Amino acid sequence: MYLCFFKRKPTMNILLLGSGGRENALAWKIKQSPEVQNLYVAPGNAGTHLIAGNIDISITDFPAIKRLVLDKKIDVVIVGPEEPLVKGIYDYFINDLEIKHIPVIGPSKEGAKLEGSKDFAKQFMIRHNIPTARYRSFTMDRLDEAYGFLGELEAPYVLKADGLAAGKGVLILNDQDEAKRELKEMLGGMFGEASKTVVIEEFLSGIECSVFVLTDGDSYKILPVAKDYKRIGESDTGLNTGGMGAVSPVSFADETFMKKVEERIVIPTVEGLKKDNIVYKGFIFLGLIEVKGEPMVIEYNVRMGDPETEAVMLRIKSDLVSLFEGVANGTLKDKTLEIDGRYAATVMLVSGGYPGGYEKNKEISGLDTVTDSILFHAGTKLSGGKVLTSGGRVIAVSSYGETKDAALALSFKNAEKVLFDKKYYRKDIGFDLK
Ligand code: AMP
Ligand code: GLY
Repeated sequence: MYLCFFKRKPTMNILLLGSGGRENALAWKIKQSPEVQNLYVAPGNAGTHLIAGNIDISITDFPAIKRLVLDKKIDVVIVGPEEPLVKGIYDYFINDLEIKHIPVIGPSKEGAKLEGSKDFAKQFMIRHNIPTARYRSFTMDRLDEAYGFLGELEAPYVLKADGLAAGKGVLILNDQDEAKRELKEMLGGMFGEASKTVVIEEFLSGIECSVFVLTDGDSYKILPVAKDYKRIGESDTGLNTGGMGAVSPVSFADETFMKKVEERIVIPTVEGLKKDNIVYKGFIFLGLIEVKGEPMVIEYNVRMGDPETEAVMLRIKSDLVSLFEGVANGTLKDKTLEIDGRYAATVMLVSGGYPGGYEKNKEISGLDTVTDSILFHAGTKLSGGKVLTSGGRVIAVSSYGETKDAALALSFKNAEKVLFDKKYYRKDIGFDLK
């Protein structure tokens, strides 16, 4: 047939690092690219097993990753979670003659400090005039000064461990004496090395959203905006989790708001990285808060969000692999990013008891009965032909809809159909958005 001459041959071998719902969603989207010959996920889960080759290696064992990359003739490495980035996987590749030509989508070790050190991120924002909460950083030898700074602020008090603390390093306290006690505990090693330095910052009151940017270090694309729901209980109550659901787009992040985000935050961030000679070719995750209509940065992450990715990937129409090529080759500005105008909503099914103690190895059934949502596996594993729960967050149920409520209704309907013992999910995802 005539048309066949124009068909592109799949040639790319891709390695994706990670094992959560985010990685299943990235794998799902990557797999749609006509350029992909082989997709491997390390270590992956029962969901990525359905669409890619799972390889059981640790995401921070760089020598093992190098051997895998050479063995499987990998053309590009996509990094899901922050840990390998903060530990310097980008630099590991660049500094090794055998693999330096293989692009890693993610920032250099210096760039990953935007997530790996809150003090570094705050200094970066102040240096580049990016709106964020007033702050100061302290170590134990300046405890009295730190108490003095707390005295200058009004309640509630925000204390942040400087380093990575598995998402648990932020304390928000209403009482100043309690804040002082917790501060001392943190500096004394409550989160190990991560809290030897603590950022104390002004509390910002407003509604949050997650903005994702893909950059080649020069130009950038702003991906669909999302909002996640972190608390375990309905109406945003109870303990923080890794995320109980997400919605995209976000009603308050309208054109006016997003223009401010682009001008005051995205451009100064990309330009700031350039000015500081920080190599950054990957995702930037802006954790934003809207304070009286104005966007401010709560945090940077150097990866995609979870569960936001499980909604955001549904809304990217363009070939993600082609965008990654643009990132790797510095030609992102020549690529187009087409967004699906529909809504996407994700409802996370979790193990009863999470984020506290919970049981694992529960058999999951009903997965095949869902045809009008997309199921991304978060904490699952295969065992003897069965799919078992293996984590707190188990399955993300993602759906399209012409409205936010239609997308959510579909996810809630299908959340009922996936069955495992002690399943729990929030039934009010998106409750605070128009
Ligand atoms: P982080 O780990 O920096 O994302 O902080 C965790 C959560 O704490 C954020 O998602 C916010 O909900 C909250 N938070 C962090 N910093 C502030 C702040 N300055 N004001 C109000 N809430 C904050
Ligand atoms: N959903 C927030 C995060 O991935 O950190």
